[in-house]
Parts: sequence; structure tokens; C-alpha cells
Amino acid sequence: MKKAKMYVDKNFVIDKVDNRLFGSFIEHLGRAVYTGIYEPDHPKADEKGFRKDVIDLVKELNVSIVRYPGGNFVSGYNWEDGVGPKEKRPKKLELAWRSLEPNEFGTNEFMEWCKLVNTEPMMSINLGTRGIDEARNFVEYCNFPGGSYFSDLRKQHGYNDPHNIKVWCLGNEMDGPWQIGHKTALEYARLAEETAKVMKLVDPNLSLVASGSSGWHIPTFGEWEATVLEHTYDYVDFISLHAYYDNYENNIENFLAKSIDMDSYIKSAVAACDYVKGRKKTNKTIYISFDEWNVWFHSRKEDEKVEPWQIAPPLLEDVYTFEDALLVGLMLITLLKHADRVKIACLAQLVNVIAPIMTRKGGGAWRQTIFYPFMHASNFGRGTVLQPVISAETYDTKDFKSVPFVNAVPVFNEEKNELTIFAVNRAQDKMEFDCELKGFEDYSVIEHIILENNELKAVNTEDNPDNVKPHNNGNARNEGGKVKAELSPLSWNVIRLKK
Ligand code: AHR
Repeated sequence: MKKAKMYVDKNFVIDKVDNRLFGSFIEHLGRAVYTGIYEPDHPKADEKGFRKDVIDLVKELNVSIVRYPGGNFVSGYNWEDGVGPKEKRPKKLELAWRSLEPNEFGTNEFMEWCKLVNTEPMMSINLGTRGIDEARNFVEYCNFPGGSYFSDLRKQHGYNDPHNIKVWCLGNEMDGPWQIGHKTALEYARLAEETAKVMKLVDPNLSLVASGSSGWHIPTFGEWEATVLEHTYDYVDFISLHAYYDNYENNIENFLAKSIDMDSYIKSAVAACDYVKGRKKTNKTIYISFDEWNVWFHSRKEDEKVEPWQIAPPLLEDVYTFEDALLVGLMLITLLKHADRVKIACLAQLVNVIAPIMTRKGGGAWRQTIFYPFMHASNFGRGTVLQPVISAETYDTKDFKSVPFVNAVPVFNEEKNELTIFAVNRAQDKMEFDCELKGFEDYSVIEHIILENNELKAVNTEDNPDNVKPHNNGNARNEGGKVKAELSPLSWNVIRLKK
């Protein structure tokens, strides 16, 4: 049996986990909104048209913040189209995904839905086709108490109290040539700076996210961040990162090593932020909003065949395999290990579109494989991340050298007196995992949850929704002052200890 060791000390702290690390994303794309979270004709819809079966699943995930309404969609969106009486809302060509947008669902519906699932909204504004004027009007509509044109319009629309949306994204992936209204770094930087300034004149309490690179392999990465922050530093708190991984080559060793790419990406982005901090000689630190991350590749070919100009076509409907869940678990561990700089992260997306939750129009709702690691991290990963020292054998792959067979992170929840260890065994053999936990001598193992499967390509479907699901028969135990556990081959593990 292979062996790995982890040393943890209660005093060696990375940082408190910002609850917003367990966020997600709903874009007007495919069936995320229509027939996803909103389907008035569905037997399980409430009086407002929200699917209650989906609400229940979102609550299981304990999602802390939801980014909306895009994504690429936002760069061509007019927020005014989605408010006011539904019968007057225009049906429009949606150019990012070449669909028809009925605008039946908009800002106010989203805010109502956020309340139902106990989540915070994260609103993005259009800096593709629009700019300062629309952004300030939108903030006034959402956040100003009343007595002005747009705040009174909100009241007329039935929302007397301001929505008080705190976190706003200044556009989406503006560095990407595919983006509607794509800009050079300088063009975007100046527009973002002026828009941020004016938005904050309307509401000084906003927390703003500048649009960073859409991926770290894009040639402008680094220079983009430096230019954007050079201009926006005083107004923004975050810069965004996006990353999606694939397994086109069907190489499990290389695929599971891709969380190392995410780790390097975060380190490089932090370096770019701190480069500008140094140049400005300021004490203010810019944090990372990793507001799109996931596995995305299964649906790409199918999507090319989808007819344009439909309402809610089936787009980006990746059916996730067991191996995808392992990488998602590794990405969650990576995000937790950067809790000192990554304060917001959004699993992209939430329902139907590259999502942990799938639905059928008029039919059921079920959990995809990736649902589980997110649910565990979101429910048990709140508290303080401790710095682990891990010693494990390593392996080399096509793209990565010295990949440790085990990656793990401990999170200490002081309020609940609980310590949770998240661990992935990348090896195809069993792993003996020994943890030396200094400061936790009086803690005992209460549960060892494992997600494992003999079939790497196993999936969940509406007819077989529990094909891949975790069990809690793991054998983690206290032994001789240590915690010892056997990690199954290729498995996601959650070891919970309590005082
Ligand atoms: O999440 C799907 C798409 O991926 C988003 O619309 C875009 O921002 C990214 O390229």
C-alpha cells in the first residue's frame, strides 16, 4: 500500500475562509434560468415560477453567493429589458449564445430567488456594449432607497426596499476576442475606472470586481492585470480569474494534475496584484474573485449542432463523470489553500449549464457527480484553513512533474469545535494516510465520507440519480495520538473530527 503523511499544527494558519468561497453562477445561457431555476408551468413551481425541487438542491449545496446574469451574456444585456411588467418586456436576440431571450426573468426575479435559497447576489454589469450611464442607473435602481427616478421605478415595479447588492463585477472577460465589445487592456482599464468611480458615487458601499484575464494561458495575461489595476486600484477590491479544465485526451493522471495549473494561475495573479501594490506603495491589497471555475468539455461538440435563436436551448449540458468529481474536489482544496487571497469563488455554473444540478423540462431534478465535493466543502469547509505539510510519493505526467499522489487541506471550525480534512487520493492504489495533528489531541473522528467508484466514467442520470454518491464507511480512526485512514484508490475523502 502507498503511504502519505500530513502534519498539521493549530497555530499554523493560512487564513479564515471567506464564506463567499462557496459561490456559484447563474447566467442567461441555455437552460440555466428557463427550465432550470424558473419554470412557471412545472408541477413543482411556486406561485412565482421558481422550481422548488431545484431550490431544495441549491440549499443542500449551501451556496453563499451567486453571480448573475453573465458571463458572456452580460456584454450584450440591457438590464432595463428585464424589469417591470412581464407582458411589456421585449423578446431579444441574445448574441453571445445566439439564442432568443424572452426577458421573463430579470433582476427582481433573481433577487427574490436569492432570498429563497439564502444566498447573496453578485451582479455583473455590461461593459461590452454599454458603460458609465447604464451602470449608474442600474445601481440607482437596485440600491438607492427612493426619491429619484430609477429608485422610484423600482418601487413602481413592486420592490419598495432597495436590494442593497454589495458585490458588482465590472464586465466579463473583456480580454477575450469572443466577448461582445472586447477591449484592449487600456480601453477596458479606463472604462472600468470611470464606471467604478461613478457607481461608487451612487453607492459608496459597493465592493467591485475588475475583470481579469479569462484564463492564464491567454497571451495578454499579466500585462492585462497590471494595466487594469494600475487604473482601477483605488476603486476595486477584487480581480477576477476564470478557469475550465478538460480531459479530451482521456488521461486520468494528467487530468487530475490540472489543479496544479489552477494553483500556479492563482500564484501568478497574486503576483500581478502585488506588483501594482508595490508600484503604488499602498497598504491596500487586491483579492481574487475566482468567479468561474469547473470542468467543461463534454458538451462542446454537441453544442455546435444546436440550432440558433431558440429560447433556452440545451447548451453546455455537460454530464459529469466520477473522475470529474475528483478534479472538482482537488480544485476546491486548491481554493481553500489560497484562502488568504481568494475571497470569492463561483463554481460555474449552478443548474443545467456545466452544473452540479440537472433538470428536465417538466420532469425531475438530480445531483451530478460534482455536486458532492462542492456540497461537502461548502458545508464542512467553513472556518480557518490550516497550513498542512504533506509528504507523499509523486508521479510525472505529460504536462506536470512531481505530482503528489495525495492532496489535502484541514479546515478548523472553532465555533463548532470541528476539524475537517479534505483529501484526494490521485493514486490507483489504496493509500495509508497518517495525520499528526498538533493542538487537536482531544478531537476524535466522527465521520469519514468517501466518494469512490470502480468506473471512472460513471455518471448520474434522472433514471439512475444515485449511481455515483458518497458513503460514510471510511475507516479513519484515532490511533496512538494520530489520525489514520485508508484512502481508497482514486477517491475524494472528508474526515471529520470533533472535540
Ligand atoms: O460559463 C460559461 C462561459 O464561460 C461564460 O459565459 C464566460 O464568461 C466563460 O467564457
